Amino acid sequence: MLTKKSVVSIGDISNDDIFRVFERASSFKQKLSKGEKIKTMDGKIMATLFFEPSTRTRLSFESAMHRLGGGVISVSEPKSSSASKGETLADTIRMASSYSDIIAMRHPMEGAARLASEFSSVPVLNGGDGSGQHPTQTLLDLFTIWEKFKSLDDLNISMVGDLKYGRTVHSLLRALNRFDTTITLISPESLEMPDHILSTLDHPEKVTKGTDINPILEKTDVFYVTRIQKERFVDLNDYAKVIGSYSFDPETVSKMKKNAIIMHPLPRVDEISPDVDRDPRAFYFKQAENGVYVRMALIDMILGGA
Ligand code: NCD
Repeated sequence: MLTKKSVVSIGDISNDDIFRVFERASSFKQKLSKGEKIKTMDGKIMATLFFEPSTRTRLSFESAMHRLGGGVISVSEPKSSSASKGETLADTIRMASSYSDIIAMRHPMEGAARLASEFSSVPVLNGGDGSGQHPTQTLLDLFTIWEKFKSLDDLNISMVGDLKYGRTVHSLLRALNRFDTTITLISPESLEMPDHILSTLDHPEKVTKGTDINPILEKTDVFYVTRIQKERFVDLNDYAKVIGSYSFDPETVSKMKKNAIIMHPLPRVDEISPDVDRDPRAFYFKQAENGVYVRMALIDMILGGA
């Protein structure tokens, strides 16, 4: 059960809880589509502390709390907080947890959310810690797959792009590998999925690696495309070598299964051409919308609403 729990890594959420989140997210989605009001978080406050750029994650956390009838306090610009005066993360979190009932945060340092959860008196939700994890993104990714295929089993999934620095795929791979999925990891050699992620998998035998998307186009059900994470490169010459490695355009998409879907956590740079957006297989905007319903469900389950 998720009651009063922090979610720092996808390992903090059991498969049963994943399906509980789906059911609640579906119910909220339906209620909102009918214009029904939900007020389970009346009087509760969420603090959003984002020490790294974010559009979707912060906005959808805040939208989710507002849609549940709760309030939001926020630091979105690190320069405007006392972190710029040298305050430690531990002190900022101690204080923020005395002002709120739940904290959603993003930080450039891997492990920051785990540290924060140790100093916080309220649950902490990790909205991305450097190249570490992004478990709430994984929940909305899984929800989007489940809505389409009605299952997380018997699927052929390909993750494409920056698998080294991309935190979304670090969490997603761990989660999908807990189900009956066949996974292909496609990246430039310098951006392969790190061993410290591969070594934690329950079923490593169901994961294969490659560098070319052509062999997987006709057999994949779910393409999960990611941005090359420019901000994580120590040497921009290395970035220059991999930029534009993969590009999904209408011609690439024409080779895919009719029933396949293309996902992307967004923001995209040049991995998916805007000409693909109107193809029924383009799911990335639906996926981003689902972020609100899934985060509503998660907050509601952690803070014991409904
Ligand atoms: C991702 C992130 O911040 O890790 N974006 C998101 O949360 N939707 C992916 C990215 O920045 O490329």
